[in-house]
Amino acid sequence: MNELTPELIALSARADDALARALPDESQPPVELHRAMRYAVLGGGKRLRPLLVYATGLAFDASLERLDSSAAAVEIIHAYSLVHDDLPAMDDDDLRRGRPTCHVAFGEAMAILAGDALQALAFEVLANDAMLATDASTHLRMLRTLAAACGSHGMAGGQAFDLAAVGQRLSPAELERMHVHKTGALIRASVRLGALAAGCRDEATLAALEHYGHAIGLAFQIRDDLLDIEAETAQLGKTAGKDVAANKPTYPAILGIEASRAELDALTKQALASVAPLGERARMLCDLARFVAARGN
Ligand code: IPE
Ligand code: IPE
Ligand code: MG
Ligand code: MG
Ligand code: MG
Repeated sequence: MNELTPELIALSARADDALARALPDESQPPVELHRAMRYAVLGGGKRLRPLLVYATGLAFDASLERLDSSAAAVEIIHAYSLVHDDLPAMDDDDLRRGRPTCHVAFGEAMAILAGDALQALAFEVLANDAMLATDASTHLRMLRTLAAACGSHGMAGGQAFDLAAVGQRLSPAELERMHVHKTGALIRASVRLGALAAGCRDEATLAALEHYGHAIGLAFQIRDDLLDIEAETAQLGKTAGKDVAANKPTYPAILGIEASRAELDALTKQALASVAPLGERARMLCDLARFVAARGN
């Protein structure tokens, strides 16, 4: 399945609305910073992380209103990570979501600040949710989940592993560690936030969801690495072939294309098996696992 189902498309539109509401008004000063923040978040993106929040929360009967702040927060963190990932000091990319990258459009300094401010905004959005605040201990657990996913033991740590690995020959275990951090951490957090917002307390269920998130997080980055080789720039909305050009250690570079595809299949099966005990409740989570494996951009 390389397209989202109509149900998931409707939820991604809901995420867009939540994001548009959460972002600062660009008529308010500092206007240029607010414009850069809105530019980085709105107008593109598959919204996979918000969809994972919604799909997980709905599986445990949460209302959509209860999930909006988590959905917006994870996507705002993701958008910030892309702004910084594209900077000249990092991947030095000039195309993102089919448009000039944030630093090309607004300048490097403004892009750095937009990333900084987006990171803070994500926590503000989650912390300010009055519906979640009625259960302070779960609310705190959610904030901790998001913080851990962003930091040096999560996404930022994974980006550091990525930069340190340029030109190196990583072992498969080191490669997996890099992906599990740089991409997997926020994807796992998205699933966990949806479950926590829904009031899911059962540790065995949370562990099964963690396993699902781990498998699709890794699968997502393997697919990203394969697409960098196999797809065209116009299809991707970002420059194809960058990983080879920048000498990045990727799954296909280290394991080869066939073994990477096999790993992607195996991880997708693991993800589906992890949520199989949830039965029909897991329908959207299964749709998303299949989408992650087959997506075309
Ligand atoms: C791209 O993420 C960066 C990675 C973590 C691989 P996405 O493929 O989710 O990017 P958008 O949000 O759809 O643009
Ligand atoms: C990006 O990975 C991961 C994060 C932004 C945390 P990539 O560098 O592979 O993402 P793309 O290919 O630029 O989207
Ligand atoms: Mg990168
Ligand atoms: Mg990149
Ligand atoms: Mg990539």
